[in-house]
Amino acid sequence: MSIVPQEETTATETKMVPIYIMGKRYEVPATLTIMKAIEYAGYKYIRGCGCRGGVCGACSTVYRKPGDYKIYTGLACQTVVEPEMYLTQMPFYPANRTTYDFGELTGTPDEINRLYPELFRCVACNACTKVCPMDVQVMDYIAALKRGDIQAAAEISFDCIQCGLCASRCMGELPQYHIAQLARRLNGAYLTPKAEHLQTMCANIDAGRYDPGLAELKGMDLETLRNTYQSREMEPASAGEDWTPQDKSHL
Ligand code: FES
Repeated sequence: MSIVPQEETTATETKMVPIYIMGKRYEVPATLTIMKAIEYAGYKYIRGCGCRGGVCGACSTVYRKPGDYKIYTGLACQTVVEPEMYLTQMPFYPANRTTYDFGELTGTPDEINRLYPELFRCVACNACTKVCPMDVQVMDYIAALKRGDIQAAAEISFDCIQCGLCASRCMGELPQYHIAQLARRLNGAYLTPKAEHLQTMCANIDAGRYDPGLAELKGMDLETLRNTYQSREMEPASAGEDWTPQDKSHL
């Protein structure tokens, strides 16, 4: 992602810069993100515009700058416009996505190798890492999977937002972000130790332990419900991790 420092302007003066959207020139305020600049230019997002907060990956953008051989990438909701940039939105990249029945998997490296054999087409050029707007070390998690280390791949790829820019630049035609998603799923389901307290709580719920309490709450009139809520025992702001309420009947 590329952010340029903005020159100072007065409250009444808005610095405008020229940009090109789908080949057409527009003058837009220099302080806008690409996404806002596109709206400023008169376009309207009617679907798929995403979170606008840098976490959903729906706004991948490819652009060039004048006199520069490089192709640049970024998230339209995070990247500020630059003068003369030529923009193209890339809301979806058609990377290969294998279908599988997750219930039939067990979390072994061979399963990833079988579902995504193109993993071994990686030539370690690192183009994927260079374009990642989240600074994920994409080539490193692919290398981890080639070694059979699913847990390392899941951890390294944790910040991936599935924008697909890595796949768009890959000369080996890997769908890195789909492969990483499978690694994180396998890691979460089969390789990460189960949290004991979570299992206990799920068993309690299944056994109906909280059903009477819920029925009692649902049977209250609004006033009683409000008073019950407002008089509940609350965790103090300075409580440590081992804090528990004095009344443990609802745990
Ligand atoms: S709109 Fe979600 S990351 Fe940009």
